[in-house]
Amino acid sequence: MKSLETERLILRQWQPEDADFVLDLYSRWEVQRFIGNHPQIMRDRAEAEERVRTWRNIHQQPLAHPSHAIWAVQLKAGAPLVGTLLLKSIPASGGTLPLQPSGDTEIGWHFHPDHWGNGYATEAAAAGLGYALDSGLDKVVAVTAPANTASQRVCLRIGMTHRGQTERYYNATCELFEARAPH
Ligand SMILES: CC(C)(COP(=O)(O)OP(=O)(O)OC[C@H]1O[C@@H](n2cnc3c(N)ncnc32)[C@H](O)[C@@H]1OP(=O)(O)O)[C@@H](O)C(=O)NCCC(=O)NCCS
Repeated sequence: MKSLETERLILRQWQPEDADFVLDLYSRWEVQRFIGNHPQIMRDRAEAEERVRTWRNIHQQPLAHPSHAIWAVQLKAGAPLVGTLLLKSIPASGGTLPLQPSGDTEIGWHFHPDHWGNGYATEAAAAGLGYALDSGLDKVVAVTAPANTASQRVCLRIGMTHRGQTERYYNATCELFEARAPH
């Protein structure tokens, strides 16, 4: 997985020792409340360790593109972890579980509340989106819960286009945002 660098951030591979941060991040309702159809907080370190293992093996997932990545986002100043940036296959809606990959790539972001309001999600997302479109993906989508206005603002700040609501992914009604590679 390629590391990325921005003015204030480093986007790098997750390491097993990051599990404490992962648990701290995903055990918070304000982080989880808009993620998934039945949001649940993470409860223990074993779950965090399993999450890190899955993220490190992202390329084993069906239809993974070589540029897919799930990055740990770290501040250059003092090196604290601040969040997750995801560039991955997005599942299609469908009748049977597990949902099958749609063939589209989604970008997503989960940041620690201690670090909201600084533009870090936007800075990381802009770098991830630029990397995706430069490395051969023609289209990247983002989906948010209709009530998740903070995430919708990130989509717009990084130049994605709002396409209204869709039921195409995750068996859910989502706001759909799209970015396309310039031709
Ligand atoms: C979605 C989420 C990442 C947005 O976090 P955020 O901190 O609001 O987003 P950014 O890092 O881009 O920061 C933007 C805010 O910082 C402010 N800001 C301060 N300094 C800034 C800078 N240098 N550059 C840009 N924005 C800056 C902006 O004004 C903006 O505030 P506003 O939206 O109130 O106008 C965060 O709410 C989150 O992690 N939520 C939980 C997980 C989640 O729902 N993820 C999305 C699932 S679809």
